[in-house]
Amino acid sequence: MLIQVERNLKKSSENRMFLIEKKNDLKSLQLSKEEQAYFKSEIQENKVIYTNQMGKLTLVGQFKSLKDDINKENTRKLGYQAYEIVKDKCASLEVISSNSKAIELFSEGLALSSYRFDKYLSTDRKTKIKLQTTFTKNADADLKTVHDITASVAWARDLVNEPLSYLTAEQFATDIKKQCEPLGVKVEIFEKQKIESLKMGGLLAVNKGSFDPPTFTVMEWKPKKPKNKKPIVLIGKGIVYDTGGLSLKPTAKSMDFMKSDMGGAAAMVGATMAIAKLELPLHIITLIPATDNRPGNNAYAPGDIIKMFDGTTVEVLNTDAEGRMVLADALAYSNKFEPELVVDAATLTGAAVAAVGTHASVSMGNAPQKELDALTKAGFTTFDRVVQFPFWEEYGEEMKSKIADLKNLGSSYAGMITAGKFLEHFTNYPYIHIDLAGPTYLHTPTNYRGEGGTGAGVRLIVEFLKNKSK
Ligand code: BES
Ligand code: ZN
Ligand code: ZN
Repeated sequence: MLIQVERNLKKSSENRMFLIEKKNDLKSLQLSKEEQAYFKSEIQENKVIYTNQMGKLTLVGQFKSLKDDINKENTRKLGYQAYEIVKDKCASLEVISSNSKAIELFSEGLALSSYRFDKYLSTDRKTKIKLQTTFTKNADADLKTVHDITASVAWARDLVNEPLSYLTAEQFATDIKKQCEPLGVKVEIFEKQKIESLKMGGLLAVNKGSFDPPTFTVMEWKPKKPKNKKPIVLIGKGIVYDTGGLSLKPTAKSMDFMKSDMGGAAAMVGATMAIAKLELPLHIITLIPATDNRPGNNAYAPGDIIKMFDGTTVEVLNTDAEGRMVLADALAYSNKFEPELVVDAATLTGAAVAAVGTHASVSMGNAPQKELDALTKAGFTTFDRVVQFPFWEEYGEEMKSKIADLKNLGSSYAGMITAGKFLEHFTNYPYIHIDLAGPTYLHTPTNYRGEGGTGAGVRLIVEFLKNKSK
């Protein structure tokens, strides 16, 4: 599905992409006189220009100092521009630069741009893209890492794009096992009976309206000599479809993309896949509570009081605030691992979208500020960005109920923070919460992020953990 990016010291292609930092660098390239003259007059920073001589393509792109995160992002976007130029014209492209980092960033943007979700199109409408591979002879460029990460992003995007008619909670768990076990990740799937015996009341409550049973998937990546003594736990909201339940979403427009409500789970399983492919020396446990949220059958109802996995009672005032119900059980379950840090990702609130739109996720937590800063930094490095919000005690006050320990609904303000404070109640360790409701699913195509599922969170978490494993 994705084009192959690789380092290949031998191969040569007729079609070449030159990445240069300074206009002067043009002189050292092997170009004809005409090409030299053309590129010299047309070259611009952050733009790909090209010549096509009898089907033989020569592209040139100029990047700026890669110390700056914005310039790194612009280099990924050069990959997007190049992809748009060559996709239908050639089968192979050689990327040439003395700067290996530029090659990596360019290839990342190019590979991500090549993603298409065309599984359900009839053969004649399937993507007919000529470009199959890009490669470089630059010995320092680490294209294996680029490939491992972009392939994991593509899987996360597939999962988000898969409709409920395919991706039920059980199918989701099966797909995780199929994809990650061969990479050396231990995958255990708790089925409904086991979830009942564990008394995961939050997950079971949300599932009550559904015809399909819930699942709770436990993944473990445990290398021989991990850098961390206590595990890092990743948790993803796996609502495979969110109708709102009895507090039904008000319009079809607010529901038509709710197959994406497992975007947090996709981010965490995608990141786990990348961690295994990269063989990061970290002990990681990933938990995925999954179900759809429907008004059918014996659906949980506004006014219900639910006993959660850890014994906390929750007054349900809105069944559409279901993400926190399933996450709470997973958060409480992680206590048993005595984790060093727990990070969750969830398409949790419209409030997060209202606050920062689709350009960033929101983060918050009680983990040491240096952890939250490291996450923010990873966000800027990858441009899978996060903005930290406060996590003050006052926001938590709103979640107290008169007739139960907690209620699942706060006031009309700062909904992403009150949701985070609800979740914090179930934690007993340093904790970071990421609400990625905005960037997970795009309704209009945006450069290499594409449209539909974006895989938001995968590159962020992988970068954050890569830095920890150093
Ligand atoms: N899945 C939604 C949040 C969402 C909204 C994701 C828009 C992506 C785009 C979540 O389950 C939800 O419905 N949240 C409610 C919570 C409210 C009832 C407290 C919301 O944000 O309105
Ligand atoms: Zn909801
Ligand atoms: Zn939801």
